[in-house]
Amino acid sequence: MSSAHSQQRVLSGMRPTGRLHLGHLHGVLKNWIVLQHQYECFFFVADWHALTTHYSDPRILQESVFEMVIDWLAVGVDPNASSLFLQSRVPEHAELHLLLSMITPLGWLERVPSYKDQQEKLRDKDLETYGFLGYPLLQSADILIYKAAHVPVGADQVAHVELTREVARRFNHMYGREPDFAERAEQAVRKMGKSAVREFAVLRTAYQQDGSQDALESGRALVNAQQNLSGSDKERLLGHLEGSGKMILVEPQALLTPAAKMPGLDGQKMSKSYNNTIALREPLDQVQKKISTMPTDPARMRRTDPGDPSKCPVWQLHEVYSDLTTRNWVQAGCRSAGIGCLECKRPVIDAVIAELQPIQVRAAEYEKNPDAVRAVLAAGSERARETAVRTMDDVRQAMGLNYR
Ligand code: TRP
Ligand code: SF4
Repeated sequence: MSSAHSQQRVLSGMRPTGRLHLGHLHGVLKNWIVLQHQYECFFFVADWHALTTHYSDPRILQESVFEMVIDWLAVGVDPNASSLFLQSRVPEHAELHLLLSMITPLGWLERVPSYKDQQEKLRDKDLETYGFLGYPLLQSADILIYKAAHVPVGADQVAHVELTREVARRFNHMYGREPDFAERAEQAVRKMGKSAVREFAVLRTAYQQDGSQDALESGRALVNAQQNLSGSDKERLLGHLEGSGKMILVEPQALLTPAAKMPGLDGQKMSKSYNNTIALREPLDQVQKKISTMPTDPARMRRTDPGDPSKCPVWQLHEVYSDLTTRNWVQAGCRSAGIGCLECKRPVIDAVIAELQPIQVRAAEYEKNPDAVRAVLAAGSERARETAVRTMDDVRQAMGLNYR
């Protein structure tokens, strides 16, 4: 990693829902593939999260987990550039969840919008459970345990990141104060080199007086780059930088995934529940068939009827896949009835097949070699755990559990 942000950590999780489709690729995974070269990335399978809604049919998990990771690898999420792991392989998430639950007001969880929304939406399930209420806090633990600076999520998850920030703030406020904090912080400052001391002072003022977010980021980078400071001195300096007490947990920022613009076969958002998906491992003749039979502008009953691309879900696919020349050809040909719908679909079919073919070749290799997938998860879980264990040491100490 050589990027300017390589010091910062990014974390995101996905519930295991089985095989992924083009919506996941365009909405989430392409973003991960870019981020993995810019940040230190942790991507995980949120298997415990799946249990909060699917506790009564847990057997779906096993298969879904591996199928999902095969798809991640096949599209180019690189296990050498990022750590891919399984939530349940890092039991520290559960311990942090428990400890955070002690200080989280019930009202904060009841007010998370997805709580009532999902209960309404998933009416066939009994979601009047403790685990379901606590699920956003489990997500907070997922994030905080890696001290992640950025969390790439869709709009529906922003409230969860906001909760995470509030929980971190409350935690730091409750447990981050040492009686002699200011003095210790000053001592820690003096352990840095002269120019770093000066730079730290400038950045701290720029942040605390002027609220400069850039100064905050640079200040954090400066502190993290100090080789000769202990972990707790770094935390003191980070706390001093922000003007709070010792900062044990880091408030993350949501990194809003550019709105998933991937339309499904019917023009609605592509989603399994709408039955309008093209799976990443959809057999290619099936891809051809699905697109060929997609609905078009209903005004084009006959080949000679002119149409309007803005009323046609195929046009939305052209917006994802076609260059300007092709899109102009569609616009003109559709409105003048110069082209037929099947003709119009051809470039989309070709583009989707060209996109999926190499993915399917790579997926087939992993299908043949499940041990390779297991090895990726084992190595990633190991790496994740190193970080998680360190955070838990700090958290236990802060909460007075360091006697054991
Ligand atoms: N709740 C997320 C979802 O349903 C998945 C998730 C769990 C997650 N833990 C996370 C996402 C931590 C980002 C960070 O999509
Ligand atoms: Fe849709 Fe293309 Fe047919 Fe127009 S020509 S209705 S854009 S499929």
